[in-house]
Amino acid sequence: MEKILVIGCAGQIGTELTLELRRIYGESNVFASDIKCACKEVAESGPFEILDVLDKQKLFDSVSKNKITQIYHLAAVLSGNAEKNPLVSWDINMRSLMNVLELAKEQKLSKIFWPSSIAVFGPTTPRENTPQYTIMEPNTVYGISKLAGERWMEYFFNKFGVDTRSLRYPGLISYKTEAGGGTTDYAVDIYFEALKNNKYECFLSSETALPMMFMEDAIKATIDLMEADASKLSLRSSYNVAGISFNPREIAAEIQKHLPTFEMTYKPDFRQAIADSWPKSIDDSVAKKDWGLTCKYDMEKMTEVMLSEIKKKLML
Ligand code: SER
Repeated sequence: MEKILVIGCAGQIGTELTLELRRIYGESNVFASDIKCACKEVAESGPFEILDVLDKQKLFDSVSKNKITQIYHLAAVLSGNAEKNPLVSWDINMRSLMNVLELAKEQKLSKIFWPSSIAVFGPTTPRENTPQYTIMEPNTVYGISKLAGERWMEYFFNKFGVDTRSLRYPGLISYKTEAGGGTTDYAVDIYFEALKNNKYECFLSSETALPMMFMEDAIKATIDLMEADASKLSLRSSYNVAGISFNPREIAAEIQKHLPTFEMTYKPDFRQAIADSWPKSIDDSVAKKDWGLTCKYDMEKMTEVMLSEIKKKLML
C-alpha cells in the first residue's frame, strides 16, 4: 500500500489534491504537511503536520517515521511574489526540490511529483501553441527556478533512477483556496470580486491571453500522470499542459453573461511584463500521446461552476 505525503497542502493546489488523494487512496494513507495551518477540511480529514520542507532533517525523519512511499511537493513562491524577493525565492524553490529529490533517492521512494509551469518559457519562445521542445529563456526568478528544477528532475531519473513526474501547469483556477502571488491569479480574483463588488480592476491588460486550467482538470491530470505506467512516459522533465486560453476581456464578457452589470477596468502593474513573456497557448500533444491527458472544462463551464460555488462560499 502506497503512503503519500503532500508538501504544501494548505495552498491552492494542495488543498484540493490532498482531499482527492484521500478519497482515492484512503484518508489515513495521505499525510498532509505545510509550513502553516491547512484548512479544517484538510487538517481534520487525515494526518496533518506542520513541516518546513527546508528543514531537511525533520523532513527525512517524518518520511521515514510515517513510511512514506510517494511525495507530491507543491510548496513554492509564485511568479509575482518571487520578483519581490529574488534570492530568498530562489532558495526556497530550489532547496525544497533538492531536499525532496535527495530524500527520494536515499529512502528509495516509489515516485515523486513536482509541478513546473508555463513560466519556464520566456520572451524568445514562440507564443502561440508553444511546443514541448522549444527555446526556453525564462526571465523571471520563478521561471528560472522551474526550468532548473525540470533539469534536476530529469537528472535524478537518469542518474539515480528516481521516478520523477511533472506537469507544466498553466494558470490554475479554483474556488476552494485562492492562489497567492501569481501572475495568472487575476483569473481567480475576478470571480470573487465580481460576486462581492460587481467590479474588478485587472492587473493585466485586456488582450493578455494566457493558458489556464480549471482545478478539477489539473488534479485529474496530476493523478493520471502519477498513475500512468512508467514505461509510457517519454519525459522525466515536465509535460506541457494546454488547458484553455483566454484574455481578461474574454473572461469578463463571460462573467457578464451571468452578471450583466459587472464592470471591468484595467490597470496593468509589474505582472504585465511577466505575462508578456509567457505563452498565449500551449501544445500538449506529447502528454496526450504518452498518457492520455484530457481536459473537461472550457471557459463557459468553468465560469458557471466558479460563480455558483463562490456564491455558496460567500453565502450570497
Ligand atoms: N500560476 C503561476 C503564477 O502565475 C504560474 O505557474 O505564478
